[in-house]
Amino acid sequence: MTLIDQIQQKAKSLRKHIVLPEGEDDRMLLAADQLVRQKICDITLIGNPDLLDERAKALGISMQGIQCVDPAQSEKFEPYAEAFMEMRKHKGVDIDGSRKLMRKPLYYGAMMVHQGDADGSVAGANNTTGDVLRAGIHCIGLKPGISVVSSIFLMIVPGWSEVLTYADGGVVPDPTAEELASIAITSAKTHRLLTGNTPNVAMLSFSTYGSASHKRVDKIKEAARIVKEKAPDLNADGEMQADAALIPEIGRKKAPGSSVAGMANVLIFPDLDSGNIAYKLTERLAGATALGPLIQGLKKPAMDLSRGCSADDIVNVAAICSVLAGE
Ligand SMILES: CC(C)(COP(=O)(O)OP(=O)(O)OC[C@H]1O[C@@H](n2cnc3c(N)ncnc32)[C@H](O)[C@@H]1OP(=O)(O)O)[C@@H](O)C(=O)NCCC(=O)NCCS
Repeated sequence: MTLIDQIQQKAKSLRKHIVLPEGEDDRMLLAADQLVRQKICDITLIGNPDLLDERAKALGISMQGIQCVDPAQSEKFEPYAEAFMEMRKHKGVDIDGSRKLMRKPLYYGAMMVHQGDADGSVAGANNTTGDVLRAGIHCIGLKPGISVVSSIFLMIVPGWSEVLTYADGGVVPDPTAEELASIAITSAKTHRLLTGNTPNVAMLSFSTYGSASHKRVDKIKEAARIVKEKAPDLNADGEMQADAALIPEIGRKKAPGSSVAGMANVLIFPDLDSGNIAYKLTERLAGATALGPLIQGLKKPAMDLSRGCSADDIVNVAAICSVLAGE
């Protein structure tokens, strides 16, 4: 069974309710149809009901079993606007400003998740990563104990024995040591939830166990120390180079006694440059499949998509969203 099959099976057993704010996009309608017919999750599409019906007919899709909501017409509109204003009034948001945002499908969808009317949201087919993230951060908020929203890529590398998690390749440009530690702890949890495997977390650097001295190395050492302090049961170690993290003989030589070296499956990169470059190189040079960026760190999941995504990609991310909502 592939990883995606496993995730879809798990999603089916959880049967969560996912909102798709960009419902008027044909890819969303096609994905909603697959998700509901295959019983992967329940779906609410946000959009104008007449337009949704018209597009569904044109695509040959039955809307039976798919819920639709038009924010401005919904009885939840005013309660959501009031709740959002309460959450953001310290930032100067008044009721008019709040209503204006609630008319935006991204914000309305994220509020559905916040208010418990949906378990997670999936968007990004027509909105930027930044817009999806801001709606999630402002409406849903961060998990207790987590200092930043970040992302992982699940990397399926041909010939490699297990699925790898790379973080962060999508969100936090220049994390502090504290933020890097938070990214590591969150990524380990996401890895366990999605792959079912025990995380072995390597805090990556250009140095292994003090082989080089630099303030950038100090940042990774400090992050590794914070991870050990905050998550003592997590198998995490660093600083170490990527070869020491992945290859047992090199790990034994460069980081003797490490419980992670040579067997890492969660790779934490120093910053967004290295994380983003690494996942693209692995994809292009090793023929890996990269699933992500999968947003993590919010109280409840709000997932992002690439604007070039297909209906099948949306189905997969909605299944992942369901599994993350089930934790
Ligand atoms: C979230 C993100 C989009 C914020 O962008 P921004 O609007 O320029 O940043 P701001 O500083 O105005 O932040 C907006 C709010 O989000 C919060 N925020 C920003 N990044 C955050 C993060 N990673 N985690 C938690 N909160 C975050 C800010 O504190 C702020 O909150 P406030 O409005 O309550 O004060 C930012 O992480 C980003 O641009 N990441 C890069 C994404 C990207 O381009 N990826 C490409 C590679 S795939």
